[in-house]
Amino acid sequence: MKLIVCENYEEMSKAGADIIAALLKSKPKCVLGLATGSTPVGMYQELARMNKAGEITFKDVTSYNLDEYYPLAPDHDQSYRYFMNHNLFDNVDIDKSKTHVPDGLAADPDAMGKAYDEAIEAAGGIDLQVLGLGPNGHIAFNEPEAELYAGTHKTSLTESTINANARFFASKADVPTHAVTMGIGSIMKARKIIVLANGKVKHPVIEKMLAGRITTMCPGTLLLAHADVTLIVDKAAYEG
Ligand code: F6R
Repeated sequence: MKLIVCENYEEMSKAGADIIAALLKSKPKCVLGLATGSTPVGMYQELARMNKAGEITFKDVTSYNLDEYYPLAPDHDQSYRYFMNHNLFDNVDIDKSKTHVPDGLAADPDAMGKAYDEAIEAAGGIDLQVLGLGPNGHIAFNEPEAELYAGTHKTSLTESTINANARFFASKADVPTHAVTMGIGSIMKARKIIVLANGKVKHPVIEKMLAGRITTMCPGTLLLAHADVTLIVDKAAYEG
């Protein structure tokens, strides 16, 4: 695992954007795996700036997002589809019909998950996957558990994740208790992965990832088994 320690959030965002920009230049028709949450917002802003400046284009890009709350409609202002439109897709020249987010209203989440993974494969697989880290070590919504799913699936959120995400909702009671999420296998199939983490609250997870041991009880550590992972952290996440 490659580690990049940045001075602050802005530098971390720029480092992530530079890696994506390099891919867009070398492979304009690439497949991106994208994450929501507060962490990548600055990186998405930087990508939008680069796009407006004519440095990069998303016009041939296909994207697959990691996860979506369940049940939640795509036009709900806390849905991850809404988040992606607002924070990236509406601000760059991407063809929205090539952007995908797991269906948070799927009547049959198992069938939806299987179709989602098959669609990623059919698109040629993910070239570059962006990940954030939950304070409890989750990646996408693969929460710490003795056993984890390989494929895209429906899952329940832990109390810790519901608490962490309550800041975006009117009240904790409004946070959905479930999500549909790419599984560990779906994520590990990406050819390259970048993980962004900032702030003191992420330090315990970063410490575990740097300790070099793997456990499903901290899903972020599973990334140590991938051949091409770059962990981009700010000083607060690195030093605690
Ligand atoms: C988001 C996702 C989550 C977040 C994680 C960190 O699509 O899959 O795993 O990356 O919860 O969230 P933030 O960035 O808000 O700290």
